[in-house]
Amino acid sequence: MNFQKYLASNAVEINREIESCLNAWIIDVAKTDKQLTDVAKLFVDRNFGGKVLRGCLVLLGYRLAGKKYTKEILKAAAAIEIFQTSVLAQDDIIDLSPIRRGKPTIYKALGGDHYAISQTICLGDIGFFLGLRLISDSKFDPLFRTRAVTAFSNMTINTGLGEMLDIELPRLEKNKTDKAVLTIHKLKTSYYTIIYPMAIGALLGGASQALIKHFEVFGENLGIAFQIQDDILGVFGDEKQLGKSVTSDIEEGKNTLLITFAFKHASLKQKKILDKYYGKGRVDESTHDLIKKVFEETDDYIIFQDFD
Ligand code: IPE
Ligand code: MN
Ligand code: MN
Repeated sequence: MNFQKYLASNAVEINREIESCLNAWIIDVAKTDKQLTDVAKLFVDRNFGGKVLRGCLVLLGYRLAGKKYTKEILKAAAAIEIFQTSVLAQDDIIDLSPIRRGKPTIYKALGGDHYAISQTICLGDIGFFLGLRLISDSKFDPLFRTRAVTAFSNMTINTGLGEMLDIELPRLEKNKTDKAVLTIHKLKTSYYTIIYPMAIGALLGGASQALIKHFEVFGENLGIAFQIQDDILGVFGDEKQLGKSVTSDIEEGKNTLLITFAFKHASLKQKKILDKYYGKGRVDESTHDLIKKVFEETDDYIIFQDFD
């Protein structure tokens, strides 16, 4: 079976599990205070419309541990997906991103002001623990479950550090290095997109540490490849198809290999264009075209040995 079919065939059940967990939470919220239900429901809505890639990798990890599919593992898959929505809600504040999964981002939908940012931070934090609670309440062997809870916690910590490094880097150096960008990719993407989803599935299936080590090796590289592709699409992709803005990476001055390579091989004139527009706020269509042209004209040099 190809991977896209694997995604499609599992997405329905994972989404159903996310829905059942979050609907139960909405009932709790309403019991606490009805004034919060609208904001909480917005968070619930934004959990749907993604690829469900990470949730499917939890199922795959479980199978690779030698276990047959059971409905209980859907809880861990839903947990990772709720984590993903939560981290993206906060990432969209950090990156000032207006669109996600084809809809206004949570903080934009709430008005984009300080109130909106504050509520989104809280929703994200709650989402992390809704995910963690799904795993800790699951019916797996208590030892396996504890290992999965630890892995989920480490995933949250590492992803947070990746985000922090992503924020810190532009302040540290004007011309970012490939090495620093790759560290961000590893922390921000490899861990929470590939390694931890598979590890959590496998740990719940009773996998040995040796199996997890294998996930780390290929997951690190696959995660980096995933992020590079994501960053290319983030500039050259189609906004409708991606469900997110194709100018906001340039506007926020995102740390990508596209920009490190472009800077390294740009002529003086091309450098001036990058200096003037990359990370300098609002990008209109003609500026977008200008930056794409510089990226394209400098990409002949993109060969493996180019990494420093
Ligand atoms: C989002 O990172 C991943 C995390 C929040 C950990 P990016 O900022 O690179 O991704 P997009 O482009 O907003 O999806
Ligand atoms: Mn980001
Ligand atoms: Mn982002």
